[in-house]
Amino acid sequence: MSIAQKIKLTDYLPAEVTAGKTLWIGGTWESAQDGETFASIDPASGVEIAKIAQGKAKDIERAVQAAKKGAKVWAETGGMQRAAILRKAAELIRQTREALGTLDSIDSGKAISETAGRNVDGTAGMFDFYAGVTDKIRGSVIDMGPNTTGLVEKEPYGVVGAISPWNYPMSNAATKIAPILACGNALILKPAEQTPLSALLLAHILDQAGLPKGVFNVVTGFGAEAGSALVEHPEVPKLSFTGSTATGRRIAAVAGQKLKSITLELGGKSPFIVFDDADLDAAASGAVTTVFMNQGQTCTSCAKVLVARQLVDAFIAKCQEKVASIKIGDPLDPKNDLGPIVSQVQLDRVKKLLAEGIAAGARQVEVKADYQPVDGGNFIAPVIVTDLDPHNPLATEEIFGPVMAVYAFDTDEEAYAAANDTQYGLAASVWTTSLARAEVARRVINTGIVWINCVHTLSLNTPVPGRKASGLGSEYGLEALDNYMRLKTTVTMFGGYKGLF
Ligand code: NAI
Ligand code: MG
Repeated sequence: MSIAQKIKLTDYLPAEVTAGKTLWIGGTWESAQDGETFASIDPASGVEIAKIAQGKAKDIERAVQAAKKGAKVWAETGGMQRAAILRKAAELIRQTREALGTLDSIDSGKAISETAGRNVDGTAGMFDFYAGVTDKIRGSVIDMGPNTTGLVEKEPYGVVGAISPWNYPMSNAATKIAPILACGNALILKPAEQTPLSALLLAHILDQAGLPKGVFNVVTGFGAEAGSALVEHPEVPKLSFTGSTATGRRIAAVAGQKLKSITLELGGKSPFIVFDDADLDAAASGAVTTVFMNQGQTCTSCAKVLVARQLVDAFIAKCQEKVASIKIGDPLDPKNDLGPIVSQVQLDRVKKLLAEGIAAGARQVEVKADYQPVDGGNFIAPVIVTDLDPHNPLATEEIFGPVMAVYAFDTDEEAYAAANDTQYGLAASVWTTSLARAEVARRVINTGIVWINCVHTLSLNTPVPGRKASGLGSEYGLEALDNYMRLKTTVTMFGGYKGLF
């Protein structure tokens, strides 16, 4: 039995929500129009923890109409007032730390030490960061000669559709919600069907913070129903999506047809390069962190570990040593670092890929972690494999599970070629004490982020710009504001117009 099974959801969420009214539309909790629901499963035990309304096209329609009204009110709310509401939300998020963390843990299997810790900090930080800019958005004036002035304004889109994934439920949602609101838009969030609960508490918190009704709406449901209805809707001109590259391509195809603006944060196959002059202990710490944190379910995970051949054995030994201290078990037990995989489907996917990789010649290295799975949960112990060739499925596919694949390389050129030999271009981590190597790596590696002697070291102000099949546009930082505003140019002449005819 998992700890989640002993929890009363009514301690954490409004009563309507726990009664299955999980659509937040125009400031009220509602059921799906056709009354259908689906189960939210606790990944640590496989047991149902909540009934979630299964929103569909008709519910998206209602949400869009509510958001259109909300967008009008919000666009007319001054920047100072918007900032005050976002700042209040940040404060309430911090005060609601335990509840938000618990909901993300029981929904996704993430350890409470992470969800109630750095995930809540990051979520609150998003609202503080964008509160700090919403009252500083400016346009520009262009000198166009006598009697003529050009103005360039930044305007909100109106209604934005946001679709978020299950791997960092509340923080990935906040990465969209905060800048979308800061720019003066209303939005409809479709959270991942595996992990809708924290978004519902965020809706309640934003309401408490004084956000006008209809500005933030949540429609729970599946990607193929609620998600695609949101993507298709003619009155939603801007879409923001985080998730798989396959779904990203599908959304981009619709957006291409309908000429909608899109921001996509997609998958990755990010390299981790350890040169022969690296600080081996720090590099091993980085590798174990990037591969195993959140059970490997991180888009920027640098899990393609390329190591200078003479260091491979020593590097693997250090990684084995570090993995031994990782505690895996019930995600609500605060002593644990990691919990289960988000769903049975994802666990099966990881296991299948691992089996294919081993069948194709990868050699599994012995790993001993402090592994205490709960019965019925989607648990998997950390895995390290090596001796792979470049065509091994573990070398080419995004694994999204706790599997470190270690490759030996002989020359720097070989390492860079392996790093860039992928459809993806999200992140890379490079370990060297040579300034020259660090400089070459930064220039040669074709990814949006390059970490030198660190990994996952980001601030709210550092953009995450995916390249190639890893995305379009950039979340985080001031750059995210460009995603959610469009320009308007106005030219005014103060008399004296002379036309061509
Ligand atoms: P997914 O991309 O299908 O799901 C992510 C979100 O998209 C969910 O909210 C889902 O409901 C929605 N969605 C699905 N189909 C849709 C559609 N046709 N129209 C609109 N919305 C739609 O990802 P999935 O299947 O859960 O995971 C598969 C793989 O994707 C993972 O193994 C991992 O490799 C990758 N992934 C990457 C993430 C990242 O952070 N970049 C996050 C989640 C998954
Ligand atoms: Mg769940």
